[in-house]
Amino acid sequence: MRVSVVGQGYVGLTAAACLADQGHLVTGVERDPERLRSLQRGVLPFSEPGLPELVFGMTTEGRLRFVRACAEGPQPDAVVLAVGSPQLPSGGADLRQVSAAMAEILSLRESPAMVVVKSTVPPGTSSRLLTTDTRMNGRSLRERYVYSPEFLSQGSALDGWRNPARIVVGTETPSLLPLVEDLYRGIDAPWVLTTPTNAEMIKYASNAFLATRISFINEIANLCDEIGASVDDVIRGIALDPRLGGDFLRPGVGYGGSCFPKDTKALAHLSNLKGRAMPLLESVIAVNNAQRIRVTQLIDEELADRPGATIAVLGLSFKPDTDDIREAPSIPIVSDLLASGYRVQVWDPAVSGSVVETAYPGAVRFLNTRDAVEGAAAVIVLTEWPQVLAADWSELAERMREPRLVVDGRNCLDPNRLVPLGLRYRGFGRGLQTGAGTPLTLAEQAQT
Ligand SMILES: NC(=O)c1ccc[n+]([C@@H]2O[C@H](COP(=O)([O-])OP(=O)(O)OC[C@H]3O[C@@H](n4cnc5c(N)ncnc54)[C@H](O)[C@@H]3O)[C@@H](O)[C@H]2O)c1
Repeated sequence: MRVSVVGQGYVGLTAAACLADQGHLVTGVERDPERLRSLQRGVLPFSEPGLPELVFGMTTEGRLRFVRACAEGPQPDAVVLAVGSPQLPSGGADLRQVSAAMAEILSLRESPAMVVVKSTVPPGTSSRLLTTDTRMNGRSLRERYVYSPEFLSQGSALDGWRNPARIVVGTETPSLLPLVEDLYRGIDAPWVLTTPTNAEMIKYASNAFLATRISFINEIANLCDEIGASVDDVIRGIALDPRLGGDFLRPGVGYGGSCFPKDTKALAHLSNLKGRAMPLLESVIAVNNAQRIRVTQLIDEELADRPGATIAVLGLSFKPDTDDIREAPSIPIVSDLLASGYRVQVWDPAVSGSVVETAYPGAVRFLNTRDAVEGAAAVIVLTEWPQVLAADWSELAERMREPRLVVDGRNCLDPNRLVPLGLRYRGFGRGLQTGAGTPLTLAEQAQT
């Protein structure tokens, strides 16, 4: 099948490369001139494990190429729309990219047999588009339209595309299904066949539920800190219940990235527009915002007698294996630390120097963890990069200054490894661990 994928961001480029790998002849459409030039030169505009090699392989084989506008590529059988749907100041979704890309598709000289929208759009968006009886060359868009949300996760995008937990297909035209099957050929996953509105809702409800789990465990962790309980034991006990499981139950600085923050807000915004508050979801968002403030509170508590101390921030991206800092907790945290007068030294293996300069003005960037922690009274871990987990913490401890505090914003380090090195450890729901009189959990007692 000849497929055009409109929008070559994290989702679109992954889709384009994987669809080419599945045997389709793919044109990636990107309107941003700099991003397009970079793709045409074979340089990826962002980092995603495995994607550069796949894009190189597919372009070399002539199964993937990049153009600026849909009309510049060969006439497609199917168009996949993967443009951005960022957040508006109101909290709602900004659908201007989606509308502009759709207008471009509708004006193609020959209309494609199928238009598959993968961008995350608020429930009701497709329905509105279809009820206006939008036409492509005289034929109703409804006859060609599929809403199929994307669930991939940055950092493991290729695996997310190739091995999804499910494929959701929202359409009012069942005769399109053989084409959809052909598009997703080679992917073995259960299908949820439904209406476009339900498919849109599935995407938002999934992200809202995952965000809820994160905020829920953060509240439990905060209470664990108050009463001296170990959140790690609590999570172990929760996770063994098959009704609950253990995914998305890691306390810390909260969720970030280009999806959870904007999608939770867009869903709450939509519900408010309909005259129905969503108090649970509003609380999920509020708890998440508060977690970031907790980090600076912990630092202020511990470094009260050291104004202007140096603080090292390890990890800026919202999760490992990506350079994406959209809505990353690191942005408000670094800004708050600088505003409180601390000197902030940052390290991240994927976020570039120019991005650090613009998004973290005032912070000093280092190229390795050792230099970043030099002279720091406290280290804050904001991304669980493998380099942080595998770091030689005894060397890092030696390079730090008193009180040698480690704030583990992802509960990803083992305090039992750090505390004997003379580090003060502060996780979430793990209390302050200093080595002196830190109680062992029952599980630890059983192991000794
Ligand atoms: N990033 C994720 O992990 C993820 C996961 C699931 C779903 N989504 C959703 O998928 C969509 C895309 O996300 P993303 O992170 O890839 O976005 P992105 O902002 O990284 O990329 C969007 C790209 O589309 C391009 N574009 C916009 N209008 C265009 C047009 N008319 N023609 C050609 N190119 C155009 C932009 O220049 C940009 O490069 C969003 O709706 C997002 O919510 C994202």
